[in-house]
Amino acid sequence: IMASENVGTLKQQLAKLFDESLRATIPEELDVEPLIAACNPKFGDYQCNNAMSLWTKVKGKGSEFKGPQAIGQALSKNLPASEMIESCGIAGPGFVNVVLSRQWIAESIQKMLIDGIGTWAPKLLVKRAVIDFSSPNIAKEMHVGHLRSTIIGDTLARMLEFSNVEVRRRNHVGDWGTQFGMLIEHLFDKFPNGEVASDQAIGDLEAFYKASKQRFDSDSGFKERAQKAVVSLQGGVDKYRKAWTQICEISRRGYEKVYQRLGVYLEEKGESFYNPYIPSVLELLSQKGLIEESEGARVIFIEGKNIPLIVVKKDGGYNYASTDLAALWYRLNEEKAEWIIYVTDVGQREHFEMVFTAAKLAGWLPAEDNKYPKTSHVGFGLVLGEDGKRFRTRSTEVVRLVDLLDEAKSRCKAVLIERGKSEEWTADELEQTAEAVGYGAIKYADLKNNRLTNYTFSFDQMLNDKGNTAVYLLYAHARICSIIRKSGKDLEELKKTGTIELNHQDERALGLHLLQFAEVVEEACTNLLPNVLCEYLYNLSENYTKFYSTCTVVGSKEETSRLLLCEATAVVMRKCFHLLGITPVYKI
Ligand code: ARG
Repeated sequence: IMASENVGTLKQQLAKLFDESLRATIPEELDVEPLIAACNPKFGDYQCNNAMSLWTKVKGKGSEFKGPQAIGQALSKNLPASEMIESCGIAGPGFVNVVLSRQWIAESIQKMLIDGIGTWAPKLLVKRAVIDFSSPNIAKEMHVGHLRSTIIGDTLARMLEFSNVEVRRRNHVGDWGTQFGMLIEHLFDKFPNGEVASDQAIGDLEAFYKASKQRFDSDSGFKERAQKAVVSLQGGVDKYRKAWTQICEISRRGYEKVYQRLGVYLEEKGESFYNPYIPSVLELLSQKGLIEESEGARVIFIEGKNIPLIVVKKDGGYNYASTDLAALWYRLNEEKAEWIIYVTDVGQREHFEMVFTAAKLAGWLPAEDNKYPKTSHVGFGLVLGEDGKRFRTRSTEVVRLVDLLDEAKSRCKAVLIERGKSEEWTADELEQTAEAVGYGAIKYADLKNNRLTNYTFSFDQMLNDKGNTAVYLLYAHARICSIIRKSGKDLEELKKTGTIELNHQDERALGLHLLQFAEVVEEACTNLLPNVLCEYLYNLSENYTKFYSTCTVVGSKEETSRLLLCEATAVVMRKCFHLLGITPVYKI
């Protein structure tokens, strides 16, 4: 049966119809693509905007058309018959306004309820993507910047995975570099007899880092030993390797805890992994004539940039850029990724622009941005404190991620207890709800803004149960579930035997919004903008509220249809939560 086959987003389905109409109307303009956009709801649901530009193309070439309006009329007339469309109207200079059929909207929703929301997944042009995100630096505490990268990267991965892209979730941890020289030497000094084997011995890795850095900066003898230690480590000397592995392992355990709490999965391939590839990758770039000598370093000059990309430092060592070039080469050639996405703060934009340009100059990537394979830098702004400055706590310089998670959770728990839930619910339910709401609130507060803007971290704001917050949305979803539960109806039965009807305008508006889910996910994926999905989710809940306040559900003669509409709303909301990495709750 064709029914469950993915037929493309609503917009794509309309585009297909208009594409046929375009061919029939102006067969000589083969390369014209249909321009479909949402339109002013006063005139319809969508519009086709091709007439004007077509007119400028055919004008004066002896065309049968007298103006853009006539072209619009013909486009409308030549549309193939379709159940989707109820009516078309022409407005202004040839805009074709389309009103979709209520029945078609209703049937599409019902089909989704039966076949699953997976049938609404958009189809993307890529098969395999690498998303490089989170990527903290060993021995240093993860800070809020890494939290943003983790949250944004995870959502992008979820959205692409939902759209059937094979995603490699890559943790490009900073596990290589000169800082390990001082860490290792400090370790040897503190544990001269090698009793270091116990992890606890190091204790707080961040403090350990600070202490070794302090010695490095003040003690020239120590500094010299640290620099030699880097050479020994890179040369693979056993004792140094072991110490390095141990330091990495302790660090790893720390951030794994954060990932677990956030429900984020990542696969680690740190900077060290690419180290062996660097010489041959630089050789490839050298053969293309891209690498030059400059002030003792080896560099790649990039047009339009004031500084070159340094790929071998003066002292002969490799750096962040050499590693990224090797990693990019590996992802393209060994992993055959078609889309490679890097999620870091906007401060690193320049670095990535230079790396990407070098790859284009080397012929690894096509020069055009709309061709694959391609790379994208997903930059994000700062997290600010309520004082408008960079987010810091009073006691420590950086905010510890675990502390933020703890506080969000405990605040939510306190509210639930205040509302008497500790008597109503089991201890587990209380705990799980507090976590879902607390962590969800942190994630949503981050994702709802355009990622490039700075945002202010405020527990009071994000935990507000009114307005555009996760708390409000999670509760809205739970309320829908409770309406369905309390109706006492067997939903599985209703899905098969009942029919959805969208006779009231608020039912229709909600139905149409539901159907737009796929094109929103598609847009969020193509532009790498999670806030687009947040906005959709919030509007969905607004549409639902409007519907629920005007249309009686339980006990009305439209009960079956309306319960199904409630269920469809809950299903789509849950999918949105899932894509945003938020755990839905069912009771409030
Ligand atoms: N470790 C880096 C940092 O903390 C982020 C790494 C991003 N990924 C990359 N391939 N450079 O800033």
